Amino acid sequence: MRADTYVIEAGQGRPVVLLHAFPLNATMWAPQREALGAAYRVLCPDFRGFGGTPLPGGDAPSLDEAADDLAAALDARGVTDPVVLAGLSMGGYVAMAFLRRHPGRVAALVLADTKATADPPAAAANRERIAEEVVAAGSSAQLGEELLPKLLGSTTRETKPLVVGRVRAMVETAPPGAVAWAQRAMAARPDSTADLRAAGVPALVVVGAQDEITAVADAEAMVAALPDAQLVLLHDAGHLSSMEAPDAFNAAVLEFLARLPGG
Ligand code: MLT
Repeated sequence: MRADTYVIEAGQGRPVVLLHAFPLNATMWAPQREALGAAYRVLCPDFRGFGGTPLPGGDAPSLDEAADDLAAALDARGVTDPVVLAGLSMGGYVAMAFLRRHPGRVAALVLADTKATADPPAAAANRERIAEEVVAAGSSAQLGEELLPKLLGSTTRETKPLVVGRVRAMVETAPPGAVAWAQRAMAARPDSTADLRAAGVPALVVVGAQDEITAVADAEAMVAALPDAQLVLLHDAGHLSSMEAPDAFNAAVLEFLARLPGG
C-alpha cells in the first residue's frame, strides 16, 4: 500500500527533491529549504513512518516501495516533469532506487554521503539487531548513543552543540516501526552501480571529509561509475554534511543547479 507521504515544501520554480537520512526526517533539510527555496521549488518528503508520513502495514520492507511512494507523492503534487533528485545516505539509496524504477523522472542527481554498494552480511545482520532492539524497547531513545558518534564528524561533535542536539532529538524520537522498516529495507537493497553507469543525467557527488559511514572512497566509486559526475569534498563535515557544513553544501548544490541545462 502506498504511504500518504508528508512533504515539506518551499519556493517556486524547477523542482528539487531532497531525500533525508536515516533515522532522521525531512526537517534535517531546513538550511537547504531556506537557501534553495529562493530560486527553486524544494520538496522534502518524509519516508514512510518518519516525520509526518504514516507507516502503512503489509509491505515487505524495500527501498523500491520508498521510491514508488515518492513517485506517487510527486504525481499528487502535479510534478510530472523530471526533477533534480538529491539524497543523503539512505536518501541516496532511495534516489538510486528511484533512478532504477523511474529513470525518465530524473533530470539530475545529487548523491551526498551515500554509496552504491549493497550491505555486506555483517552490516545487514547489525541492521536486524537494531530493528529488533528498537521494536522490543518500543523506543529509539537508546539509538542516540550508538549512532551520534558515527553520524557526526568530530568537528561538529566538538564545536556545534546545536547541530548535535537537533540530530540527537531526531534520532531518539524516530518511531521504532519506521526504524525497523528502514533498517530491513536498507539491508535488502541491491548494488546500484549498474544503475549509476546507465544514468544519462548530470550528477554531483558530495561527501564530508570526516564521514565514517560512507567514506570518501565510496563517493569516488560513485563518481567513477557515473558518466557525468563531479565530486565535492566538504572539510570539517562528517556523514550529515548538509547539516554540519550547510553553507558549503548549499554553495556546491546551487553551483551545480545553475550549470544544468535550463538551470
Ligand atoms: C543514513 O545516514 O541514512 C544511514 O547511515 C545509512 C545507513 O545506515 O547505511
